Amino acid sequence: MIVQITNLSYTYPDGTQGLRDIHLHIPPGRRTAVLGMNGSGKTTLLYHLNGTFLPQQGQVKVLGTEVTKKTVASLRRQVGFLFDYPDHQLFATSVERDVAFGPRNFGCKSSEIDNMVEQALVQVNMESLREKPPYQLSLGQKKRAAIAGVIAMEPTLMVCDEPFSGLDANAQEQFQKMLDQWVQEGRSMVFSTHDIDMAYAWADDAVVMAEGRVLSHGPVDEVLEDIAMLKAAKIKPPMLVQLFSRHKEKPRNMREAINLMGEDPLMRI
Ligand SMILES: Nc1ncnc2c1ncn2[C@@H]1O[C@H](COP(=O)(O)OP(=O)(O)OP(=O)(O)O)[C@@H](O)[C@H]1O
Ligand SMILES: [Mg+2]
Repeated sequence: MIVQITNLSYTYPDGTQGLRDIHLHIPPGRRTAVLGMNGSGKTTLLYHLNGTFLPQQGQVKVLGTEVTKKTVASLRRQVGFLFDYPDHQLFATSVERDVAFGPRNFGCKSSEIDNMVEQALVQVNMESLREKPPYQLSLGQKKRAAIAGVIAMEPTLMVCDEPFSGLDANAQEQFQKMLDQWVQEGRSMVFSTHDIDMAYAWADDAVVMAEGRVLSHGPVDEVLEDIAMLKAAKIKPPMLVQLFSRHKEKPRNMREAINLMGEDPLMRI
């Protein structure tokens, strides 16, 4: 298991309970989507995966290591974290310095760093903006710069809070293709999103949260076709699940839907 969480609860200083008795085991080599309405605890949970928050109660193991004050620095070499707001992540005077920060901080050689930065900038199409100060970038460009900073480290586990929000369709597709390849190589990704249709089409597994609790975790089709559970979490089922409610086999993307409609005379347009 890449993530093993037992009995985890977290209370913010003002008394708000962010997480309540979480038990979660996430297998490696998967794209795991964390879903839930605003305030359901997604960000609070993700913060525990790279030690931004340390457990107040319960235990968190990531890549087999318990997350504690002592282990957090070494874990961060292997766990990349993408914050929901890129401004939380970018602080250097240029995009390329920002992307180089992680590899430099972890003691990589200068020649290696140049190569890592170059490759990461190409992956997110940001080579032409490499000298710009991050504060002069558009929101989507900032997000891409932040993504480059995370992928330059080639983490074993990528934890991303709303990684696709603010990205245009091309940038999202490019990032997803890169992640597909990474996951095929055995890396893992845990990400939060409000885009339930994208999660249904693209993720392998889904975790559904409500009021700081995990309501469901499993293969994305099983989880997102459980209408009663989604209702309890106040999440709308994916559009294709609603549209094909009468079908046993549901299409998970547009191409599968078109194929299925072609086979079913009742659905033919
Ligand atoms: N710094 C904080 N101080 C007090 N309460 C907080 C703090 N940050 C978050 N919370 C509360 O903790 C709960 C969980 O918040 P969290 O940010 O994890 O939700 P989320 O699922 O990520 O929501 P969103 O979809 O809006 O990003 C909410 O009730 C929220 O109000
Ligand atoms: Mg959040």
